[in-house]
Amino acid sequence: MTKMKTITATVDRWHPDPLKVSKAARVLMAGGLVAFPTETVYGLGADALNPEAVAKIYEAKGRPSDNPLILHVYSIVQAMHLVEMNDTAEKLALKFWPGPLTLVLPAKSCVPSITRGGLDTAAVRMPANKVAEALIYASGCPVAAPSAHLSGRPSPTDADSVLQDMDGRIDFILDGGSTTGGIESTVIDMTNPERPLMLRPGGMPREDIEEVLGCRLELPDTLSTKRSPGTHYRHYSPDIPVIIWRKGEKFPDVFPAGYMGIDDPESDGVTNKIVFTSYEDYAHGLFAGFRKFEAGGVACIVVQWPEDDSGINEGLRDRISRAAGLG
Ligand code: TXA
Ligand code: MG
Repeated sequence: MTKMKTITATVDRWHPDPLKVSKAARVLMAGGLVAFPTETVYGLGADALNPEAVAKIYEAKGRPSDNPLILHVYSIVQAMHLVEMNDTAEKLALKFWPGPLTLVLPAKSCVPSITRGGLDTAAVRMPANKVAEALIYASGCPVAAPSAHLSGRPSPTDADSVLQDMDGRIDFILDGGSTTGGIESTVIDMTNPERPLMLRPGGMPREDIEEVLGCRLELPDTLSTKRSPGTHYRHYSPDIPVIIWRKGEKFPDVFPAGYMGIDDPESDGVTNKIVFTSYEDYAHGLFAGFRKFEAGGVACIVVQWPEDDSGINEGLRDRISRAAGLG
């Protein structure tokens, strides 16, 4: 692909400068690519209704074209122009939007096939981030956006990480500081409201969603995994090996290693460590930690396996096992 100049504009995360937002929105309007912060990770946005613009996302990321994109909206009504919303999905949107919950629903015909990865459904979400909200509102279009990194790499939680992977490949970065959540949104299939499916655990805990639904979120069976194409691909991996350590087990005999987790194990092999005070912090720091260790000259990264899968831990376990190549 031809190299372009990537412009970065820094904005306040609570009160983004309307002029800079407008500049970014103009790039979207003209069919260009803009990276922007959400509450989970940075997204790589294009006008979701412009097939040529969306094609550039796949090219810039090196993303397989059968992996559909999430359409980011600023209101439930905007989502209703794009998908067939049912009452149960609307109830979830009213409760959790803006927030890290993505709903997969039957697509309306205005959503181009390339944005849906050729499926008859589309994914919609309203991010809880003022910069994202201002950008989507100003652009006047739904914004198709995957995480703003090269396919297979750890997702970017700050503008520097976006630049590392995307400099020269995209037009514009709105730098609104580091994201608060850290792992991507929870994706659920609400096509059949009688049988909601968990396609990807993430920032919104399963328990919270199930409480509103009044039923369990089932996992898609093997026959329907085609409906969640993204989960087939190796994801979130740094360039160096990731090894899982479970508390109570012998610590891996590796040197020099980076370590991330909740406990603070004694090991001579660890030259660099990040000990988090909560699983939320762990989820928040995981991808940034991967990138930090990659740059910091360790031979491998040891990560602690969360002891249970409640709350954020289901998503955290998912990202850790994928990074370790077990996903
Ligand atoms: O937090 C997030 O979700 C971030 C921020 C930028 O919003 N976005 C993100 O996008 O993680 P991406 O493209 O990296 O992951 C989207 C996931 C993929 O696993 C994709 O396969 C799935 O959502 N997905 C999108 N549309 C779908 C559809 N119509 N049916 C099933 N799965 C879909
Ligand atoms: Mg991604």
